[in-house]
Amino acid sequence: MNVTNDLVLITGANRGIGLGLVSGYLRKGCRVIASCRHPESAQNLKELAYQYPAALNIEQLDVKKITDFQSLARKYHQIPIDILINNAGIFPENHAGTGITAADPQQMLAAFETNALGALMAIQHFQDNLLKSSNPRIINMSSQMGALSAAKGSCYSYRMSKVALNMLTKCFAEENKKIITIALRPGWVKTKMGGINAILNVDVSVEMIMKVIENLKIVDSGQFFDNEKNLCNW
Ligand SMILES: NC(=O)c1ccc[n+]([C@@H]2O[C@H](COP(=O)([O-])OP(=O)(O)OC[C@H]3O[C@@H](n4cnc5c(N)ncnc54)[C@H](OP(=O)(O)O)[C@@H]3O)[C@@H](O)[C@H]2O)c1
Repeated sequence: MNVTNDLVLITGANRGIGLGLVSGYLRKGCRVIASCRHPESAQNLKELAYQYPAALNIEQLDVKKITDFQSLARKYHQIPIDILINNAGIFPENHAGTGITAADPQQMLAAFETNALGALMAIQHFQDNLLKSSNPRIINMSSQMGALSAAKGSCYSYRMSKVALNMLTKCFAEENKKIITIALRPGWVKTKMGGINAILNVDVSVEMIMKVIENLKIVDSGQFFDNEKNLCNW
């Protein structure tokens, strides 16, 4: 395993894939800013902080709140950040009965705010930190459900919010040619969102994701990858 001293900022880091990434990057020797809505009750993160006191900072960040971004950006002003992982996400629908009549406007807005706008605000607030890194990367945690080419008549909020996240990825990669910005599918992972029938354990998905991130090149910016770095259709 390559050892690096990268500083990695992860949103939604208290459970699921986010928590797995915190653990994976700490094992690799990186420093991690693990952000979550409720640090006081983030028991798993606290245990990791006990194990890695010098490498892990736990920070409060609700990705729907611009004031949280402002406070965090102030705290890390001028500090180079190497990797931003926009991982926080919600899946508002139940898996069954999620056609157009079930598409609830409030859920739609909540999904858009968390899954798309949250990532946009993260980029806005930490772009300067990323530009101070010699190898800056932004990973937008997307999904096959955000692929127009894989559209189905269900789960409108989730699908539409991830399409917006994908568009953010493309737009920002066009605007900023120094930061490698990609959309990434983690696979179907056993988490609260993925459910128990999912195929991959968190640790397996995280290993694959970290390998993709480690091997990113500037030409990859603006692309949509799966967890084996195969190109995905938008
Ligand atoms: N699991 C899969 O199979 C799968 C497949 C494709 C894509 N993904 C994507 O991978 C990412 C992680 O998913 P997961 O499976 O790990 O889901 P998860 O277990 O449900 O975890 C979601 C994480 O997002 C956080 N979050 C939700 N709203 C937030 C907000 N407003 N501010 C900050 N954090 C917030 C949650 O924090 P709280 O504990 O505070 O709610 C939690 O830490 C998501 O973007 C998801 O769409 C997952």
